This record gives sequence, structure tokens and C-alpha cells, in this order.
Amino acid sequence: METRTPATCDTARSPGTWDGRATRALIDLDCIASNVFTLLRAVSPARLMAVVKGDAYGHGAGAVAQVALESGATSLGVFTVSEGCALRAAGIHAPILVFGPIYPAEVDALFTNRLTPTISSMAMAELVLGCAHGRSLPFHVEVDTGMTRGGVSVESVIPLVRRLDGRDELELEGVYTHFAGADYPDEPSAGQQLAVFREVVENIRSQRIAIPVVHAANSSAALHFPEARFAMVRAGIALYGYHPHVAGDVCPPLKPALSLLSGVSRVSHVAAGTGVGYGDTFRCERDSTVALIPVGYADGLHRTLGNGRGEVLIGGKRVPIVGRVSMDQITVDVTDIGDVQVGDEVVLIGSQAGIDQTADDVAAQAGTISYEVLTSLLPRVPRLYSRWGVVTDSHSAELRGSTPA
Ligand SMILES: Cc1ncc(COP(=O)(O)O)c(C=O)c1O
Repeated sequence: METRTPATCDTARSPGTWDGRATRALIDLDCIASNVFTLLRAVSPARLMAVVKGDAYGHGAGAVAQVALESGATSLGVFTVSEGCALRAAGIHAPILVFGPIYPAEVDALFTNRLTPTISSMAMAELVLGCAHGRSLPFHVEVDTGMTRGGVSVESVIPLVRRLDGRDELELEGVYTHFAGADYPDEPSAGQQLAVFREVVENIRSQRIAIPVVHAANSSAALHFPEARFAMVRAGIALYGYHPHVAGDVCPPLKPALSLLSGVSRVSHVAAGTGVGYGDTFRCERDSTVALIPVGYADGLHRTLGNGRGEVLIGGKRVPIVGRVSMDQITVDVTDIGDVQVGDEVVLIGSQAGIDQTADDVAAQAGTISYEVLTSLLPRVPRLYSRWGVVTDSHSAELRGSTPA
């Protein structure tokens, strides 16, 4: 059997491998595979739905979906019909559950792409029935057990499933709920929601309506709330290597898959008193060296990271972002770290010389959560993928100098 070099982020970081834009995201698909194995070990015998909405939390839905399925996930979760259609166009054949609402213009695509809708109201049920024209699909029902976001109310669920019971066009495959507070271990709401959900499931079954798949758990509940695992868990953030839990619980090892990298594009030596960036919000207090980096809010970098709140790694050291984040560029103060050259690697998310800056760290600096930091990355940022030691760009072309050993 061919021996392959384990994929590492270094592969696409070595000089000569990538001659595109300095700002790029490197996604280590081996980390995604490892996180799938970790999740499956934790939740077995429950099955795993890989949640790949929001372009797989910024990682690229097609690539992540493929690796998650190869690694043992049995289905995918998206929010919109168009996200599901894009996965079908990328050659994904696995079941895809659409969590979000279905609009009239999308119903036909639902059938032609064999997507599984979530039916959360009688109106949505009638809409899909009216457009079936002899076709059929499985469907899931989401029950609002206390989050007051999506889902049919507890009172309306029995009329809804009875309306659809026995219809050829729509066959009940799953019933699920979503927790408002599973990330917070001291928060009793998940337990309360679970009790309500169990009662709903019993009520449906007491109508002699079979429910092939019951599911409730997101990443946090999957890992920390075993009673909520049922037949399947729906994991998003853990798939990408982040622990959803805010408190210090014992967690299995997850591997962050995404690095956001760039390179220094200019180095300026400026006198004390010089203003840096829009609005003169930063003035150097001393003679300073500032480095320019070609990444900004049009790449998805949060503007709140400006003026000393955010940091990047250069030369294995943390340096502060000074002045405002502009659309395409930021400036960092490198006065204290010695020689910095144009082309030096900049790590915005990832690790450098043994120092980590995770999406959680960036989220804390920006005043948000890892989910938003990751999903904010815009299409302008090229995605590079590393799998089994082979690095490809988002169009699956192998990059120079990165063939397997
Ligand atoms: C219905 C549903 N299930 C599962 C998930 C995955 O959540 P997490 O990323 O916390 O695992 C989400 C994400 O928001 C969701 O909306």
C-alpha cells in the first residue's frame, strides 16, 4: 500500500507551494476526518449528521461534506435549499436535511435535488404537497420545545403529522428539536427542552405514527448530554475542531481545521506622533515599525479587531493590530519583534512557531464567538485544502511541490 505523508498545514505554507494571493485560508481536511472519528467514538451507536450550512462554517461545504461522509457521517445538514443544491451539484449523493424554511420558488428544486425538507407548519406542508406532482420525499419535523426560533409549536405538531400521515408525497423520516442552551452546563433549559421533546415524541407514537429517526443534539449536547443523543446527532462546530462548551468540562481532543494566513506586504519605519490608518485613531507614541497586511473586512476580518484589540502572529510573536481595520488591509505594530521583511508569514488564525491563535481567541478579541469568526470568511479568500499530504486549491487543482511522498 502506498505510504502517504500526513497532511499538515506546513505543506501549503512552504515557499513555492502557493503563488496566489498572500491572504488565504488553509483547511486541513485530515483534521475534519479526525474530528468525525472523535465524534463518532463519543456518540456511538448514534449516527452523525455533519452540519455544513454556512459553507461548512466558512471551510467550504463541498470539500468538508465529502470528507465527513468518507469518515463516517451518514447525512448532511444545511439551512437553505440552495446550499443543498450546491452540494448535489458538487456530486454529493448522501441525504441532505434542509433546516430552514422552504419558499414557493424552491419547492421544485427540493424534489429534483432529492433534498429532505423540514416541515414546520401546515402552510409549508400544503406548499410542498401542492408541488409534488406525483413525486415523493422524506421529511423531518422540527418541534419548538422552548428555543422560540424554528419549529412547529408543541400544540400544533400532532395535527401536522396527522395531516401528512399516509401521504405518498411526504413520508415522515425524522422528528427533531434544537437546544437553546446546551453550551452552558449550568443552564437547566436543555433538560427542560428534552423533557418536552420526549413527551412530543411519545404523543406522535401514540397516534401509531412511526418516527424512524429522532434527533436533538448539536455538538455540545452530543459531547456532554448523552440523554439527548437518540439515534443521531447533528454536529457543526465540533466538526471544525472547536469545543462548543463554555465551561471547563473534559472534552475529547478536537483539531481546529482552518488556518487563516497572509504575508507582510510593506514595512514602514515611522516617527513618534505619526497617525496610522483611517481616522487617525492610532498615533505612534514612539518611533515605530509598522507592517501592512493585505487582509480586511472585505475578507471577513471583523472591524472591531482594530485599535489594539486584535492580534496576529509574525515571527512566532503576537503583535497588535493598530489603527482601524480597513476594507482590504490592516497595519500591525512590529517595533518590538526585530527584523520583519516583506513576505514574512502572518497568521491570523492558526499556529506559528508553537504559538496558537484559535478562532476562539480571535472571537474573544472581536467580542463574538468562533462560529461568527469562521463563517465571516468571505469568498474573496482563496481556500486551500490539505488531504493525505496533497494540497489542492478550491478548484481541486494540485498545487506545485505538494505531491505525496
Ligand atoms: C438545527 C441545527 N442543528 C445543529 C446545528 C449545529 O450546531 P453546532 O455547530 O453547535 O454543533 C445547528 C447550528 O446552528 C442547527 O441550526
